[in-house]
Amino acid sequence: MLRVENIKHAFKTGNEWTTVLHDISFEVKEGEMVALLGSSGSGKSTLLNLMAGLMKPTEGHIYIADHDIVQMGENKLAEFRRKHIGFIFQAYELITSLTVRENVELPLVFQSVSPSVRKEKALALLEQVGIPDKADLFPSQLSGGQQQRVSIARSLITEPSVIFADEPTGNLDSKTEEEIIAILLRLNQTMKTTFIVVTHEHEVAEQMQRTFSLRDGYLIHDLNSEPDTVPAPGGAG
Ligand SMILES: Nc1ncnc2c1ncn2[C@@H]1O[C@H](COP(=O)(O)OP(=O)(O)OP(=O)(O)O)[C@@H](O)[C@H]1O
Ligand SMILES: [Mg+2]
Repeated sequence: MLRVENIKHAFKTGNEWTTVLHDISFEVKEGEMVALLGSSGSGKSTLLNLMAGLMKPTEGHIYIADHDIVQMGENKLAEFRRKHIGFIFQAYELITSLTVRENVELPLVFQSVSPSVRKEKALALLEQVGIPDKADLFPSQLSGGQQQRVSIARSLITEPSVIFADEPTGNLDSKTEEEIIAILLRLNQTMKTTFIVVTHEHEVAEQMQRTFSLRDGYLIHDLNSEPDTVPAPGGAG
């Protein structure tokens, strides 16, 4: 379903290149729910953005459903992303001038789906994430946890093959965090959507089927397979 092969990534700041991901390889099967763990600056968001096709790696290949998204041209990639990839952001990224239902429908507006079908799908998803009564409100009228539910519903409306979530509970209190993680776990079970969830927190990661850990740009750990022992420079931190 998702295969990451020998990914390296470097950023240029001034005249210097800094490598932030070192030779990362792993595979995720269809329907799996995987946590990507690691401390601040370890490269989690960079890796997620690469896998979601939001930027290109310096080296390596990323296959989603056997398509190498690194090799894809911009137009094809944009279309591929709209159809196959969902993304949930820490800061929700909802459009404030649209209602909750319109936000959820938005990805389908670009796919010439009829308004009545869009509406029906959006309302069904708002039901799934537990806020069917908020459809006609605006994002500013919702709590953070409710806004994240909207963004989860929006990510699902195109029925993507995989959803990437970058610290989806990073702005939420621990009770709301539990609720949101429970929703993601349930959606993974019922819709069989593949999820890759970035988190700082071991308690969140432990609830998922597998955990990958990044340390200083090295993939150091996969809890449910043979330990992948690429040593981080300078040892444990
Ligand atoms: N656009 C950029 N230009 C230069 N360096 C960058 C850029 N984006 C990220 N970096 C660097 O890459 C490294 C990894 O950053 P990344 O955002 O992937 O970390 P992260 O694990 O998501 O951290 P956090 O938990 O704080 O979100 C950091 O050292 C960061 O400074
Ligand atoms: Mg990050």
